Amino acid sequence: MSLPIDEHVNAVKTVVVPAAGLGTRFLPATKTVPKELLPVVDTPGIELIAGEAAELGATRLAIITAPNKAGVLAHFDRALELEGTLLERGKTDQVEKVRRAAELIEAVPVTQEKPLGLGHAVGLAESVLDDDEDVVAVMLPDDLVLPTGVMERMAQVRAQFGGSVLCAVEVSEAEVSNYGIFEISAETSELDVKKVEGMVEKPAIADAPSRFAATGRYLLDRKIFDALRRITPGAGGELQLTDAIDLLIDEGHPVHIVIHQGKRHDLGNPGGYIPACVDFGLSHPVYGAQLKQAIKQILAEHEAEENAAEFAVESVVVDSQVK
Ligand code: UTP
Repeated sequence: MSLPIDEHVNAVKTVVVPAAGLGTRFLPATKTVPKELLPVVDTPGIELIAGEAAELGATRLAIITAPNKAGVLAHFDRALELEGTLLERGKTDQVEKVRRAAELIEAVPVTQEKPLGLGHAVGLAESVLDDDEDVVAVMLPDDLVLPTGVMERMAQVRAQFGGSVLCAVEVSEAEVSNYGIFEISAETSELDVKKVEGMVEKPAIADAPSRFAATGRYLLDRKIFDALRRITPGAGGELQLTDAIDLLIDEGHPVHIVIHQGKRHDLGNPGGYIPACVDFGLSHPVYGAQLKQAIKQILAEHEAEENAAEFAVESVVVDSQVK
């Protein structure tokens, strides 16, 4: 249960969840199903994020959606007819599941008419903030950072160092070209905290300033909204959140990263989504054991197919040599 904001140590009232993107990497599924509603086992990614926001003590989820993605907000409404039917049939566990999203946190809709970038989406959330909110959290619904709790650590770091705080995970050298990579300017007194100088998008290995990759967790000073108004759109007419953060850094605003020790799943593309489902599935009390067996069998079958294909190629080579 969330505490009233003035009693909560993290002092984050609003979590912004940008969910108005086109989800092109997930087509054709995202032609009609919003990416944010794709299930990890049985729970949409955005509900997992709402749970994380409620744990943080936030009371409001500002969901940025597109006009054609009404289902995202509908997921946070009660479904009284469905609940009634489930109750009549004695399916009380399912009723709990159906109610959970609506009970977790208050979802506040914000419409982004056109997908003009993450920076533009975040900028729209200013209208829902109260005057006394000097900090806002942003959580990307297609990014799972596990175990949850990193935002709490980020709030402690903001209390200690001021400014804005982002979250990073350390990736291998081979992976740096897939992510936004932080440029670090100084160590701090905290082992898991570094001061940030800037960020390089998807650098080649040789150009990567570190191996600390950005994740979808941001604790931003309210100054971010002013910075978003002062940056210009980049490629595709999109406003980039990282450009606004860079502007703040250039102007002397302190930005730190917390290096998260744990797992991270990128639900934004099938290559990251599938392992996330497997990971959650293996830990699931109902499906875990059976899934483990199924994976072993699938792997064995694939190996057998690969061996058979190799054997067939070798036989062709030997045949042609004999002839
Ligand atoms: P992504 O770039 O991962 O999402 O943005 P996308 O644009 O939907 O995906 P692709 O690249 O076409 O496959 C990160 C988050 O920001 C939101 C997305 O919905 C996603 O949750 N977003 C992005 C917006 O809300 N508005 C935008 O204009 C862009």
